[in-house]
Amino acid sequence: MKKIYLRIISAALAAAVLLTGCSSRDLQYAYDDDAPSIAETFKDYFRVGAAVNSWDIADPNSNQCKTILKQYNTLVMENESKPENLHPEEDRYYFDTFDKFVDFCNENDIVARGHTLIWHSQVPGWFFKDGNEDASAELLLQRIRDHVTTIVSRYKGKVSTWDVVNEVIGDDSQLRFSDWSRIVGDYDGDGDKYDFIEEAFRAAHEADPDARLIINDYSLESSSSKAIRMYNAVKQMLSEGVPIDGVGFQMHIGNGIDYEAMKENFKIISRLREIDPDFIIEVTELDVNCYGWGEEKKDVELTKDFLEQFSKTYTDVFKLMMELSDEGILDSVVMWGLHDGVSWLNDGHQNYPMLIDKDLKLKEAYYDVLELVE
Ligand code: XIL
Repeated sequence: MKKIYLRIISAALAAAVLLTGCSSRDLQYAYDDDAPSIAETFKDYFRVGAAVNSWDIADPNSNQCKTILKQYNTLVMENESKPENLHPEEDRYYFDTFDKFVDFCNENDIVARGHTLIWHSQVPGWFFKDGNEDASAELLLQRIRDHVTTIVSRYKGKVSTWDVVNEVIGDDSQLRFSDWSRIVGDYDGDGDKYDFIEEAFRAAHEADPDARLIINDYSLESSSSKAIRMYNAVKQMLSEGVPIDGVGFQMHIGNGIDYEAMKENFKIISRLREIDPDFIIEVTELDVNCYGWGEEKKDVELTKDFLEQFSKTYTDVFKLMMELSDEGILDSVVMWGLHDGVSWLNDGHQNYPMLIDKDLKLKEAYYDVLELVE
């Protein structure tokens, strides 16, 4: 009799699951003691981390901080280590916030990343000015050297990876036309305009020879012309002895990806190993935008199809990243944000780009990703 009751109950549950599209999984909070840990699960493949803000780590008893300590073993600051925050005026550095972040990482065995030394965005205008005129190439190169040397040497041995330059290839797959490239130009007269990039990498390497130095960019996984351009630029600089250790794939992707294209584009960059056998790739800013770029936004509905697609997108990406880890070329994966509620992609419309929801609950996709590990 008891058996029959049990069968009826489980059949009813299964029917409910089919009808509602919900699984029977008991979703846990990311900070729960008995919740799984994504960093722990993938420890034989790569570190897993997130971009955070100072307030997330200010109180060790907060659920955000507990989530960070439980789920991640590498961290980066979402905004507070960018040039406009670290170096707002020529003679004034503001180190307090980043110092605290780096100490927090070091005290908790978390690998600290530095993002970013040179970027066309979130950079104060003083870099490019000399009075009312444009700075000269010499002056800007000197400022690049001072800026990079001061910051990297302060965190020598404490920040293990730097995004030395960010987004230097434009949407047209050419070297981005920015104040950096415009003013410095082809300073050494060798026919390319990578001179501002070269100066930044050389200064960073001199300041901390053990730090891993990354050239970071977006759409490398989806645009083969951008990946090829990145390959050519890095190849050229490596041949000139510029100390670049790896390429950062930001991986701001959409829901649904062309797996084969993504694999091919990673392969293009992997070929830099023919020049430097230790060359690496990092995934630096992973998230899955629920809206297409430029698409008119209506609030997205979290239908069963949508959630399955979302889960497939994440599992596809993790599958590929595990393959890259098996090849020894990838050992660090960072998600751009702690949870859905604080993602930079929430611009007026709720977005759902992360594996953790706005209440810090683990999503179905999170568990699906973890199941990739035997
Ligand atoms: C974004 C932050 O997430 C936002 O809060 C800020 O307003 C703008 O910058 N590529 C990068 C990151 O390299 O620095 C960007 O971060 C997201 C895109």
